[in-house]
Amino acid sequence: MSETSLAVVAKKYKAEIVRRRLATLGILRTSMKVFSDDEYVYFPVERPPNPDELPELITGDAKIQEATFNKLVLKPKTLKEAMMGTLDEELIKLVPRSFDIIGNVAILELDERLRPFAKDIASALKLVHKHVDTVLLKAGPSTGEYRTRPYKVIAGSGNTLTEHIEHGCRYRLDVREVFFTPRLSGERLRVASQVRPNECVADMFAGVGPFSITIAKMQPSCKVYAFEINPVAYKFLEENIRLNKVEDRVTAIFGDVRHNYGILEKRADRLIMNLPFSAEKYLDVATKLAKPSGAIMHFYGAAEDENAVETVKFNVSSIIRSLGFDAKFLWAKELKEVAPRKVVVALDIAISMR
Ligand SMILES: C[S@@+](CC[C@H](N)C(=O)[O-])C[C@H]1O[C@@H](n2cnc3c(N)ncnc32)[C@H](O)[C@@H]1O
Repeated sequence: MSETSLAVVAKKYKAEIVRRRLATLGILRTSMKVFSDDEYVYFPVERPPNPDELPELITGDAKIQEATFNKLVLKPKTLKEAMMGTLDEELIKLVPRSFDIIGNVAILELDERLRPFAKDIASALKLVHKHVDTVLLKAGPSTGEYRTRPYKVIAGSGNTLTEHIEHGCRYRLDVREVFFTPRLSGERLRVASQVRPNECVADMFAGVGPFSITIAKMQPSCKVYAFEINPVAYKFLEENIRLNKVEDRVTAIFGDVRHNYGILEKRADRLIMNLPFSAEKYLDVATKLAKPSGAIMHFYGAAEDENAVETVKFNVSSIIRSLGFDAKFLWAKELKEVAPRKVVVALDIAISMR
């Protein structure tokens, strides 16, 4: 697209000086593309500068005339910005500010009122995030033992096999087949930075390995046991261990952690229990994996009431005490609302046998 504008036309050898003067005056039009011919450079301007402002007009090194410029297509910075002009004001307010991007797959969650515009929103998202190929719409919650979620493809090739990079670690995964959320990225770093040299760590619900691998990369002298029951997630876990060159530090174990905890050569200094809706059922297994003299547990639980942290703490401490262990809460945080009034809670707990 092109447009005619008033222009300052500067001799080539003075062009940079003129450009700077016009920019300082604040009259350079940034929505059009500067161009040149053999002799002159053409600058689109909001108004003609007077000779006091641009002495090159007196020396004959610059002149003012009209010229036709190509318009610069400015890339929208946010999804909301990209949808301006397509949706009315009320609907624009509902366009999500944030969404998950896993490798080159983006995942949208849309208000009912935006559903008829899902494809337009997905195309706009691809305009803002050029590396995104497939755009998925959440079509239900994460469910079942594998914690996978149904999705609807709303843009792109539909390929959900991707590679995601987080804290310098690479994860190959298929978004449809395994659980993975980039929202826990901060958590993984927080947990991994607590691991001390030579620790033995049990990642009881490892998925494709983000906790295990971040820890192994950050603390090379540690030993991590990563348990995973979903055969597809396990395959990616093994692949990611190789991809990140931590085969000497991370052992992947396929199957239910309840039936496989005996594989550990020594008891764990640290346990990661990232299975928010069922982790409590595995606290007995955790106490069998943990060093009796003391271990740190990173526990992820969920509750539906307003005091989610206190509810989860109460439930966890009752179970741990019933198993003959003491529990001391070191840290707690509400992570995210997964559904109306359902809150995921992260707890760091020091446990030791009574
Ligand atoms: C909520 S996901 C967390 C995955 C990973 N920690 C992460 O941050 O991406 C829980 C994972 O535990 C696995 N899982 C569920 N029950 C299990 C069990 N009894 N033993 C081993 N893995 C299990 C699921 O297949 C799933 O991959």
